[in-house]
Amino acid sequence: DTGMFTYDPGFTSTASCESGLTYIDGDEGILLHRGYPIDQLAEQSSFMEVSYLLLRGELPSKAELEEFTRTITRHTMVHEQLTTFYRGFRRDAHPMAIMCGVVGALSAFYHDSTDINDPMQRRIASHRLIAKMPTIAAMAYKYSVGQPFVYPRNDLSYTGNFLNMTFSVPAEEYVVDPVIEDAMDKIFILHADHEQNASTSTVRLAGSSGANPFACIAAGIACLWGPAHGGANEAALNMLREIGTVDRIPEYIARAKNKDDPFRLMGFGHRVYKNYDPRAKVMQKTANEVLTKLGVTDPIFDVARELEQIALNDPYFVEKKLYPNVDFYSGIILSAIGFPTEMFTVLFALARTVGWVAQWNEMISDPAQKIGRPRQLYTGPTQRDYVPVDKR
Ligand code: SDX
Repeated sequence: DTGMFTYDPGFTSTASCESGLTYIDGDEGILLHRGYPIDQLAEQSSFMEVSYLLLRGELPSKAELEEFTRTITRHTMVHEQLTTFYRGFRRDAHPMAIMCGVVGALSAFYHDSTDINDPMQRRIASHRLIAKMPTIAAMAYKYSVGQPFVYPRNDLSYTGNFLNMTFSVPAEEYVVDPVIEDAMDKIFILHADHEQNASTSTVRLAGSSGANPFACIAAGIACLWGPAHGGANEAALNMLREIGTVDRIPEYIARAKNKDDPFRLMGFGHRVYKNYDPRAKVMQKTANEVLTKLGVTDPIFDVARELEQIALNDPYFVEKKLYPNVDFYSGIILSAIGFPTEMFTVLFALARTVGWVAQWNEMISDPAQKIGRPRQLYTGPTQRDYVPVDKR
């Protein structure tokens, strides 16, 4: 009992690890990063400040934040040879396929200079990953649309730099819209970390073997891609577009309730939250603000809100405690900003890199940590003797 949270012995015995980064109460819909509620961080902090908080454990002073931001900014360029990895992909390659390949390839550039037992080298590797992810993500987008890569600029914020690398073209200056920059930064905060979700557990398991952090993050990206996990934001927007109009919602609600139909409401439900995902609340508010400020009227936002209301009042979903999750509204904002759906999970990976890196550091710096080795319940045949093929 830590005086704040009392562990259920049953939970502790099944917990995969101890961690002080993020606390989730799925029944109450609570999400804290180092004790700070996610809605306060999303409304009052910045992605750089939340990154510092997750990595170091405390909110930074003004000087500490400036120094951290300067360090990250000065690591945003990638080795020029890394650009050749992009040219091996077909133009229509999914950007997440590119992210898996290129981030894994970072190992080839930094493997030899990353002694994970040296705290300073772990910190440098962490900064490199956080700093270079926006550059790599923007390059994946540029490659997919056949536009030239745009280099990072040190005079822009972390998020402004990412938007510029993504949307700027040599033919004309891209002006970072503060409304879009603020919404993007909020989205990054909302995706930064989320306890021991599937992709974070993947990063921890890979890291527990002593693999270099670049390879571990590539493993996390691969896991995040799945539609049951980070891929849900892309799937949720595609679902809303397929529904198209409010009158077609009942057909999809019926499908989601039909056990014989594999269809699920994308952006709904969660392994842990049996209440409203607190991130979804901030996301819905941000979606409303961005669409209003940008003067964008997207009919699928109306479909999303109507679908949410119907599902929240439908006994089936109420009984199964299915609520919108972080992925339900994010796609509406990202689409309004100008991202294609294929980039949605890339943006999730960009933001979650901070959580993955912070969780990896927490694990690696624990001298007691051992290689992960999940156990199993064996359900195969009992022992039997081999039968030569001519006697089978
Ligand atoms: C993320 O773990 C994390 O923290 C992940 C994440 C993070 O930040 O890292 O929060 C990010 O991955 C959010 C989740 C994004 N995925 C989706 O939106 C995809 C759609 N959702 C479902 O696939 C589903 O809800 C899961 C995968 C998220 C959870 O699946 P579970 O474990 O089966 O959910 P559950 O046990 O709570 O389900 C209870 C019941 C089940 O029915 P029964 O077996 O009891 O009959 O509800 C059903 C499920 O079949 N159900 C749904 C549903 N989600 C669950 N039915 C229809 N539509 C849905 N979306």
